[in-house]
Amino acid sequence: MPPEPLLEATGIVKAFGSFRAVDGAGLTVREGEIVGLIGPNGAGKSTFFNCLAGDTQPTAGLIRFAGQEVTRAPADAHARAGMARSFQVPVTFEDMTVLENVMVGAFLRHPHRRDARERAREMLEVTGLARQAEARAGGLGTPGRKRLEIARALATEPRLLLLDEALAGLNPTEVRDAIGFVRGLHARGITLIVVEHIMEVILSLAERAVVFNQGKVIAEGVPRAVVDDPAVVEAYIGRSLAGRRLRRRRNPP
Ligand SMILES: Nc1ncnc2c1ncn2[C@@H]1O[C@H](COP(=O)(O)OP(=O)(O)OP(=O)(O)O)[C@@H](O)[C@H]1O
Ligand SMILES: [Mg+2]
Repeated sequence: MPPEPLLEATGIVKAFGSFRAVDGAGLTVREGEIVGLIGPNGAGKSTFFNCLAGDTQPTAGLIRFAGQEVTRAPADAHARAGMARSFQVPVTFEDMTVLENVMVGAFLRHPHRRDARERAREMLEVTGLARQAEARAGGLGTPGRKRLEIARALATEPRLLLLDEALAGLNPTEVRDAIGFVRGLHARGITLIVVEHIMEVILSLAERAVVFNQGKVIAEGVPRAVVDDPAVVEAYIGRSLAGRRLRRRRNPP
């Protein structure tokens, strides 16, 4: 028998009134995978992440993670089971220092302050934030805040990390460095689901791409094949801005 998947989400629905932001989507992830989750703006990717991570309760569906059913469990239970995430719009404690923000994550496994601080310092090293340890989090720019979120997520010692556009807003050199950084996380044994509009990131990082459109999974497979799938191209062209982004990345001038 193959081992049970690390994450298994089936039939996930998230309704806001009569609108279904996520409309029956499912995803299975095995330990050790890097899955790219793509789709046009408004497709439901972040809402799906919110459901997976316990930041919102799905209207319907089932989520199993690390052998437990966590469908309606709160976010801290997901974290304890080994799931961590970054937010598309970073959520930091502005008036706390960078180090203290990361300690919030580290306290999950290290209740003693000194141990949590040590763990947090290690994560600041890993994410290149060590020099800003004592700076106020609110003073960081967006790329710094995204790193800070990753540091805080890593401090919870996750088995699965959900990254929601963590590389958005970086310049091409920074994107390449960030791809290397994410590969390093994978090499440390962390399974990843990466939401990203930058196709270079998906094509070079993900072993498998899953495409969302209007709350549903419309395609899934090897990233290169998936981005050429006519249904996927159609979904992107339907949302013109995202469509332009996709085509520009695939056909550089
Ligand atoms: N709390 C909410 N209340 C009502 N509608 C919502 C809420 N959150 C999200 N939506 C709607 O659900 C849909 C999916 O949004 P979501 O943010 O999940 O898309 P996305 O795929 O992450 O898009 P993007 O690529 O722009 O980040 C959108 O139409 C959005 O306006
Ligand atoms: Mg989003």
